[in-house]
Amino acid sequence: MAPLGHGRINDTFRVGGCVVQRLNEDVFPAADRVMANLQRVLEHLGRKGATPLRLLRTREGGISQRDSEGRLWRAVNFVGGTRAVEGRATPEEARAAARAFGAYLKGLADLPLEAVQVVIPGFHDTPARLSAFEDARRRNVRGRAGDLGPLDPLLERLRPHAGDLQDPALPLRIAHDDTKLNNVLLDATTGQGVCVLDLDTTQPGSWLADFGDMARSACNAEGEEGGQGRAVPDLVTFEALAEGFLSELGPLLTPPERDLLAVAPAVIAYELGLRFLTDHLEGDRTFRISLPGDNLRRGEVQLALAAGFLEARPQMQALLEGAFKR
Ligand SMILES: Nc1ncnc2c1ncn2[C@@H]1O[C@H](COP(=O)(O)OP(=O)(O)O)[C@@H](O)[C@H]1O
Ligand SMILES: [Mg+2]
Repeated sequence: MAPLGHGRINDTFRVGGCVVQRLNEDVFPAADRVMANLQRVLEHLGRKGATPLRLLRTREGGISQRDSEGRLWRAVNFVGGTRAVEGRATPEEARAAARAFGAYLKGLADLPLEAVQVVIPGFHDTPARLSAFEDARRRNVRGRAGDLGPLDPLLERLRPHAGDLQDPALPLRIAHDDTKLNNVLLDATTGQGVCVLDLDTTQPGSWLADFGDMARSACNAEGEEGGQGRAVPDLVTFEALAEGFLSELGPLLTPPERDLLAVAPAVIAYELGLRFLTDHLEGDRTFRISLPGDNLRRGEVQLALAAGFLEARPQMQALLEGAFKR
């Protein structure tokens, strides 16, 4: 067995032509729902020829199996001749990966919403994430609330945007909910997208959150751990993402979705920043740290990035409009 990739959630191994993965049930307590979603999604896309990924059956005919220690394993076929984007994406890689995400969402757009179940409730409920942060700050169980003082101007600046993606006019969509570019396999020769991976978070949600999370993670030139205070979004990558994503989904977006695309990266960066800061306040129980204060610094990076996205909103809007016309 050879470990695969650098994923931080599940343990992934290659065994011959199979990719065997343990499901992390701390992150996904609703394992039965995750597996049911995975089966439904891969069957639907497979029928259209929209993914080469297949869930492999156990000898007993099941789609997962517990080992003697009770851990849950499942397997898909290894997709050869591919590579994942690691590190900073080139514009070509960003365009191809964003297009693959767009194609994935489009491929699921004709499934009824009820076909997939909620696996992580309230995942992109930014106002609820803000309340949780403010509660944690008030409770101050670890005595760390004082660390946040320098972030108050940023927190105030971003607060009015917590509800920007909660517009009731927005349709509920089947979303991927983990749209980092390294969750796409590209053809090793042509560089075109082959398929999307890490499908466990696929659930009812928002295409705006998927676009926002993709831009948040891919347009941060300094990376998630670095560059305090200076977080100017990389608009060259943003344009490539917009082109790729909209080449598939542009015609399917409703007017409220179109209008909010440019603010989505800021909102999702803000939301992740709030989650990091909440974890800092509560003693680093969710996001693993190497050094004390890591989650405080990560939170600061995301808040600064969110402010950077808000500042760049007019340019981003123009790039989106260009991408829509293509
Ligand atoms: N079916 C597959 N075919 C080829 N490579 C794969 C396959 N599944 C996963 N990988 C590789 O393993 C890495 C981690 O897998 P992923 O499903 O994203 O798990 P994690 O939850 O750990 O991020 C991927 O980035 C990719 O490089
Ligand atoms: Mg992954």
